[in-house]
Amino acid sequence: MSSMTRIPLSALPLLPALVFAGCGEDAKSDPGATPPGTPAAAGTTSDMPAGAAPTDGTPAGGAPTAGAPTEGNVTPGGIDDNQPPPTGVVECDESSIGGVAPNTLSVAVNEPATVIPKEIFGVLLEILGNNINNGIFVGPTSGIPNTRGIRNDIIEGFKEAGVGAMQWPGGCAANNYNWEPNLNPINTMGTDAFMELTQLVGAEPYLVGRPGDQFADSNRRWVEYINDNPEHPEWKLQYFKVGNEVWGCGGNLGHEAAGLATYTTWYDANYAALSPPINGKDLFLVGATAGIWTVNPNTDNWLTLMSQPNGIVARMDGIEIHDYLYFPDGSGTPIPNVGFSEDQYYNIVNRANAGQIAPRLRDIDSILDRSDPEGRVKVMLDEWGDWLVEFDPSDTWLQKGTLMDAISAGIHLNVFMEHADRVLMAGLAQSTNVIHSLFLTNTASGGTDLVKTPTFYVFKLYLPHHVNGATWVPHTLTSETLNGNGQSIAALSAGTTVDASGGVNVSLVNVDLVNSRTIDVTLDSEWAAYGVSSAQVITGAQKDTYNDFGQPEAVNIQPLDAAAVQACGRKVSVTIPAKSVAMLRLDRR
Ligand code: AHR
Repeated sequence: MSSMTRIPLSALPLLPALVFAGCGEDAKSDPGATPPGTPAAAGTTSDMPAGAAPTDGTPAGGAPTAGAPTEGNVTPGGIDDNQPPPTGVVECDESSIGGVAPNTLSVAVNEPATVIPKEIFGVLLEILGNNINNGIFVGPTSGIPNTRGIRNDIIEGFKEAGVGAMQWPGGCAANNYNWEPNLNPINTMGTDAFMELTQLVGAEPYLVGRPGDQFADSNRRWVEYINDNPEHPEWKLQYFKVGNEVWGCGGNLGHEAAGLATYTTWYDANYAALSPPINGKDLFLVGATAGIWTVNPNTDNWLTLMSQPNGIVARMDGIEIHDYLYFPDGSGTPIPNVGFSEDQYYNIVNRANAGQIAPRLRDIDSILDRSDPEGRVKVMLDEWGDWLVEFDPSDTWLQKGTLMDAISAGIHLNVFMEHADRVLMAGLAQSTNVIHSLFLTNTASGGTDLVKTPTFYVFKLYLPHHVNGATWVPHTLTSETLNGNGQSIAALSAGTTVDASGGVNVSLVNVDLVNSRTIDVTLDSEWAAYGVSSAQVITGAQKDTYNDFGQPEAVNIQPLDAAAVQACGRKVSVTIPAKSVAMLRLDRR
C-alpha cells in the first residue's frame, strides 16, 4: 500500500467528526476509518487617540488562568482520560512526509499548558462612531430583525465568530458614562440590553466604570444592580475596570509617578467599594496602566512601580493594556486602510508579531513575573487592532477591513494565545464600523446589509482554539524569512492547541505576498497517528481585498487545496498560500 495518498479536502464536509483513515494497514481496523476501497489516508490529514502621539508609530493611547475543563475526566492537559490508550502503532511511513521544507513546526502535544480563555476572542463595544447606534443597535421598532433593538444578524454573527467577551461602554466613552439614568433607554443600548446581548452571545460582560474616587459608590451600585437583581438572577458580571486610559482621556494623569499616586487613591477607593462580594459574586478588578510605550523592564515606569512589592498591582486581578498598530492621519506616518503599499503591509504584519506586539508582551511578562511569578495578575489587552487612516473622511472611525487586517489579526491571536498564562482577555477594537472591526453596516445611509469582514472569518476560523477545553501546547517554529519594509521578517506564525478529545488545532499565517510556504509539522505526542479532519484557509486576490455591500464575499473561509496537505502518523506537510491564514484540525486515529 502506498505510504501516503491524497484525497481532495474540498470534496469533504468540514466536520470534526470526520476522521480520515491513515495510510497504513492498521487504519482498516479503526471503526472510524475510511472503508476499504476508498483511497486510503488523506494525507491530511498603540494607541494615542486623544492627544499627543509618539512619532515612531506607537499609539498614545490594556479569571484566573482559565481553569481546566470542568466536564469529564479531563486532565489539566486537556486530554480525556477515557480515551483509549495510544496504539503505539506506526501506521504509515512517516519518513515519506515532508523532510525537505525549510519551515518546520514541532508541537509538544504532550506538554499542555494553559486552557485558552474564550475572553482572548473579545471585542470592544464602545459608544463611538457607528459602533452601537447605526451599528449593532437599530432600535426595537426597526424593520431590521432585532432583539431589544440589537440586530439579530449581528447577535448570530458574534456567536458564529465565537466572541468570548464584550467590553462596554468604552473606551474613552466609559470615563463619563453615567449608567443610572441609562438602564433601559429606548434610543440606544443600556445596561439591560448589554447584559442580554452578552447572554445571547455567550460572551463574558466586561464593564468599565468612571475612574475617580468620587465614583466608587456609583460603581458599586452599578455592579449591585447587575449581580443582585431579583429580576435577573442569571446575570453575572465578573470583569470590572476602574477607568479607561487614565493617563489620557480617563483623567489626564500622564505617565509619571505623580499620576500613578493619584490613580492609586482612585483605584483604592473603588477597590474598597467593589472587592466585597455582592450576592456571593466576586468581581475580577482591573486597574489602569500608563501608555504601552512607557513599559520597560529596565526603567522606573508605571508598570514597574505598580509591580513592586506592596505596589497597587497586589490589589488588582488584571491590568489594562492597549496596544494598537497605530497609523491614522494624526500618527505622522499614516497608512491608508485600503490601497497601502507593500512596505506598509509588511510594517503592519511584522508589528503584529516580532516588530511590536510580541516583544511588548514579553516585557510585560517579565515585569509582572518579578512580584507575581505564579501569574495571578492577568493582562487585559482590551484594545488592539490595526488603526489606520479612515476609508472616507465623512466617518473618522470607519475602516473597510482588508485581507491584511485578517492576516494581522491571525498573528495577534497566535501571539495572545501563546501568552495565555498572562493574557486573560483581548479586545478587538472595535466590533462594528469602528477601526478594526468584525462587521460593517450601512444603516447610517438607510441600508440594511451586513458585511462580515475578513477578520470576522479569522475569529470564526480560530474557534477550535478556545472550545472543548482547548489548551495551549508549546511549539518550536522554524520559519523562512523575507525582506519587507527594509526588515527581515518571519514568513510564518503559528498557534497550537489540543482539546479534550486530544485533537490538535494548528493555525498558520503566511505573510508572504508572493510565495506560498511549505511547512513540516511534527506532533510530539504519545498518540501514534493523526488524521486531518479539516484544513481551511482565508486568503484573497489582493493584500487590501475587502468584503463590501452588495458584492459577493471576496474573503472568507475556504477549504485548503487538497494537494497542499499530506499526513502520515504524527507528521503533516502543508503548503499555505501567499498572504493567508490557515487552520488544520488533526484528530487521533
Ligand atoms: O478605540 C478608540 C479609542 O482608542 C478608545 O476610546 C480609547 O480607549 C483608545 O485610545
